[in-house]
Amino acid sequence: MATVLVTGGNGYIGSHTVISLFESGYDVVIADNLANSKMEVQKRLKTICGRDFKFYKVDCCDEKALSVVFEENRIDSVIHFAGLKAVGESVRIPLDYYSNNIGSAITVCKLMKKYGVKNLVFSSSATVYGMSEDVPFTEESPVGICTNPYGWTKWMIEQILRDFAVSEPSMKICLLRYFNPVGAHESGLIGEDPRGIPNNLFPYISKVAGGTLEKLTVFGDDYDTPDGTCLRDYIHVVDLAEGHVKAIQYLDSHDAGVCLFNLGTGKGTSVKEAIAAFEKACGHPINHVFGDRRPGDIAVCYASTEKAEKDLGFKARYNIDDMCSSCWKWQTMNPEGLADD
Ligand code: NAD
Ligand code: UD1
Repeated sequence: MATVLVTGGNGYIGSHTVISLFESGYDVVIADNLANSKMEVQKRLKTICGRDFKFYKVDCCDEKALSVVFEENRIDSVIHFAGLKAVGESVRIPLDYYSNNIGSAITVCKLMKKYGVKNLVFSSSATVYGMSEDVPFTEESPVGICTNPYGWTKWMIEQILRDFAVSEPSMKICLLRYFNPVGAHESGLIGEDPRGIPNNLFPYISKVAGGTLEKLTVFGDDYDTPDGTCLRDYIHVVDLAEGHVKAIQYLDSHDAGVCLFNLGTGKGTSVKEAIAAFEKACGHPINHVFGDRRPGDIAVCYASTEKAEKDLGFKARYNIDDMCSSCWKWQTMNPEGLADD
């Protein structure tokens, strides 16, 4: 049985990916420093999968500590999720973002080289497409016009990994650019569990629907879109997780080098449409008001899914209603989020 090291495997996307890997017959080892997640996730994974996974509480920037994980396990592939991801926070504490995100990626690469592990999947983001609105974004669309330090870390790590692959010609590296991951596992046991007041749309709507926040402010309804609100490519986190399994399988069956795929649905959903879909899922109106545009937002962002479909065999299965109903189940089963450790 092949073993996948999942860094950041205790987080939102990582934990869903652990389940998909397990269901596809992989063994999983998790390395996470709990900077943005709680140990309760491991208990939930055990309930869902009927077994627990080897878990290391380790900072992926700490080469010595992370080397123990490579020393004690025969790792075949790595999926590197570990990183900080809050856009606003990255503007306030850019050095922490650069050192954590870039530092952890470099450390993972160094150890992969040292221990002869060849397959790496990296969590990149549609944020690397920057402020362009030339949709749909294809993997060939221009990048490198990021609007915040978080986005730049993704752009820089992509470049670092390309350089690494040139220096290590036997490395197989897959860059995955996610669009907007939302939703939760069908069990309602794991989902997105942000600290404090959420910045992103779905966690915010969920909390308004659940009554912990009073109302949603829609950031702008004067965009050049059909209903005036921004369009985004929301993708169910379970689909996204399955995309990672496809990426691991792709690396196993292809030659060395770097490959790149968008993971989205190819469909733009407006903020108004997202609210309407959530209202359908929860069965009551979502209190909302219309406010100013949020600085840095673009009107329209969605993926071209052609390459992922053709080469990776990946096609999202879930629609916006599925995303909302799973979010709502997660919210109602965990109104206060997960318990502190
Ligand atoms: P998350 O915060 O829920 O998960 C990240 C996990 O990494 C957390 O459990 C955190 O504790 C851990 N971590 C952070 N720094 C670490 C370090 N130095 N060492 C060990 N563990 C560390 O975030 P997520 O939404 O699951 O995102 C996973 C990855 O996908 C991130 O790299 C993120 O930038 C990327 N991504 C996320 C989105 C999104 O909207 N959620 C979109 C595009 C890309
Ligand atoms: C955010 C990140 C981006 C990341 C992406 C992936 C920011 C600024 N950008 O993008 O880097 O790659 O998530 O998930 O955080 N909205 C409201 N009211 C709210 C919250 C959001 O109207 O309270 C609107 C936004 O204006 C936007 C849409 O909802 O039009 C989606 O917002 P959000 O969930 O924050 O995602 P993105 O901005 O696409």
